[in-house]
Amino acid sequence: MTGPSGIVSVIHPRGFFLFNPSPPSPVEQELDTIQRDALTEIEGLSGESALEEFRVRYLGKKGRLTVAGAGMKDLSAEQRPLVGKKLNEVRVAITSALESRQEALVAARDAEVVTGIDPTLPGTPSFVGTRHPVSQILDRAIRTLRRLGFALAQGPEIETEWHCFDALNTPADHPARNESDTFYFEDGRLLRTHTSSVQIRTMETTPPPVRIIAPGSAFRRDEIDATHLSAFNQIEGLYVAETVTLADLKGTLEYFLKATFGDSTDVRFRPHFFPFTEPSFEVDLSMNGKWIEIAGCGMVDPAVFEAVSKVRGDDAFHPDKVTGFAFGLGLDRLAMIQWGITDIRHLIENDARFLRQFA
Ligand code: PHE
Repeated sequence: MTGPSGIVSVIHPRGFFLFNPSPPSPVEQELDTIQRDALTEIEGLSGESALEEFRVRYLGKKGRLTVAGAGMKDLSAEQRPLVGKKLNEVRVAITSALESRQEALVAARDAEVVTGIDPTLPGTPSFVGTRHPVSQILDRAIRTLRRLGFALAQGPEIETEWHCFDALNTPADHPARNESDTFYFEDGRLLRTHTSSVQIRTMETTPPPVRIIAPGSAFRRDEIDATHLSAFNQIEGLYVAETVTLADLKGTLEYFLKATFGDSTDVRFRPHFFPFTEPSFEVDLSMNGKWIEIAGCGMVDPAVFEAVSKVRGDDAFHPDKVTGFAFGLGLDRLAMIQWGITDIRHLIENDARFLRQFA
């Protein structure tokens, strides 16, 4: 059967295919030669530069294949598509041979890198990090207090005397303000000695009702020992509204401490003095028959509301309109009680043997 342009189709036992009985053109012969040369040559090539040189010589703009392809313009309209197809096949064949040669080179280089390494040996164990005990207890404390409606507040660690002392009704001759107790900067600012400064900053900017907790660091020139650090952590609490009572304060702290340490925890309020609360208390927790001081607290002193009102220039916090309670919890102490840590210095020594126990 003879089709158009002399192409003969034949029924072959393995199927149906076409062939072109006319002898191959010089261009096709050249393409065969190029393919044979390229595939033979590439087997012997190693090294990236040799492969690149090969690519340019065969596939580049002036490469053998491109030059051979230029001969297509002399072909007849019938031959051109056939030769074009072949040109493409040869290009694909050479390109893929080049790529697999490149891959083989990379694989050989990788293999060389790992020779001598025994993958069956046990690996070096790596330890997964864990949260510091103070961070763990802080997360839990925040969760508990947020359930009671407290929002998170923040203030700076470098404070003014106003926010740390004056507005908190602490007179200039109070011992806490002494240079021997407090770290001062030359410009008169200081490292806050308690987080109570955040009470003032919050009330200066936020009208009542205010219900916030402010966790953070505090600093004192304390002698460092098993229960004292010069940098430690507190959680401040402040609730100011129309009628906040001492019962609210006791209920809040008792709930918090029982939620943290268990329902059978005994809590004791001991009368105390703070310049910024009246009445004031210290809060103790019973641990193995011993009382441990855990917080200071009290009802916000009217003098504090007056100081805040002066800055605000309004009477939103006028002592006749609002009452409030405040507390300051020792966060490091909470962690020590939670895990029976006997020396507060463990918390800052970064000894992995200690920290690993809280993983
Ligand atoms: N600021 C006090 C301290 O650091 C604790 C405290 C906070 C007391 C709030 C009363 C009210 O010891």
